[in-house]
Amino acid sequence: MIIAIDGPAASGKGTLARRLAVRYGLRHLDTGMLYRAVARAVIDAGADVADPAARLAAARALDVTHLKDAASLREPGMGEAASIVAADPAVRAEILAFQRGFADQPPGAVLDGRDIGSVVCPGADAKIFVTAAPEARAERRWRELVGNGVAISYEQVLDDIRRRDDRDTSRAVAPLRPAADAHLLDTTELDIEAAFRAAVDLISGS
Ligand code: DC
Repeated sequence: MIIAIDGPAASGKGTLARRLAVRYGLRHLDTGMLYRAVARAVIDAGADVADPAARLAAARALDVTHLKDAASLREPGMGEAASIVAADPAVRAEILAFQRGFADQPPGAVLDGRDIGSVVCPGADAKIFVTAAPEARAERRWRELVGNGVAISYEQVLDDIRRRDDRDTSRAVAPLRPAADAHLLDTTELDIEAAFRAAVDLISGS
């Protein structure tokens, strides 16, 4: 069984995907971490994420066993850098096979990202596109960051989310967009528990 969870930054898709994986006894892959890890490798090599040669080299050398070093990859600046490397078709092509290989291993998996239902796993058994108003997403992400001791304003978080939405939606290759057969799940008014129950209902009906 393969479940595809897509959606914009801070939509709650990661939390939802993790919970669904437990519920259905599947493995989970947060594909945003792959792009974040490529961005981190470019920066650690002293290069610029705007440099196509540097990001392709980093994507080719990506060591997926190091994704567990998650805390530093989740920093706000890394999401922005990941969004830049993710707009590069050559980087996306390098990462595609790993994602498909992960999804195809029994008993299956829940993958969350931007293009899982549309590109990575078009044949997924269930596809959910999680949305929420930018203000609701910014508020959640801001509370989470402040709770973790990060000094950042709500306006800054909202700006970052809008900029990433623009870039992720407008890029030429694998833009953020619901697959034709995806269920839409708007979590603006839902807490995590309600979103989880709604997702299970959608998957049962798939
Ligand atoms: O889900 P996230 O915020 O960790 O993702 C970081 C960036 O990576 C996001 O802004 C766009 C990119 N990304 C992507 O292009 N495709 C995916 N499947 C997952 C993430």
